[in-house]
Amino acid sequence: MKISKRDTIFIVIVTVVITFLTLGAKERTTKAVPDDATHDQATSREQCMTCHGIEGVKPQPLGHPKANQCFQCHKQPDHWVGSAVPSQ
Ligand code: HEC
Ligand code: HEC
Repeated sequence: MKISKRDTIFIVIVTVVITFLTLGAKERTTKAVPDDATHDQATSREQCMTCHGIEGVKPQPLGHPKANQCFQCHKQPDHWVGSAVPSQ
């Protein structure tokens, strides 16, 4: 089978699309939870939100997802005391 010019263009387009999808998925990873004393102790969403609620010292950014499972997106330190998804 001979690869025509059209096939080549098609392959190039598919490659470009796959590359962009891969890069996009990488960009979606979020900042990890800081590995410090404060964050080693917080295990529940309520604790997180005392500092990261609107009134807190470091509020979540505007338009932040309303999701509760913080650690689904923000990677927790490896030696976490809770070492699980926080109870809500
Ligand atoms: C006692 C207050 C306090 C509590 C409780 C707290 N944080 Fe934080 N958090 C901070 C402060 C202050 C900063 C910004 C300074 C820093 O990076 O350490 C921060 C930064 C962050 C950041 C951004 C890190 C970065 O690189 O900018 C994330 C993500 C985060 N916290 C998640 C959490 C989660 C999830 C919890 C609950 C398990 C939590 N925090 C509990 C005070 C708190
Ligand atoms: C669905 C995914 C998702 C969940 C769940 C989530 N976040 Fe975030 N969070 C993000 C994204 C995306 C950003 C903005 C990009 C970034 O800075 O990481 C962000 C940013 C933040 C920041 C600001 C980081 C900085 O310094 O710019 C804080 C603080 C934070 N989140 C706290 C929390 C807390 C606390 C919870 C749990 C109640 C939580 N997040 C749950 C996706 C999520």
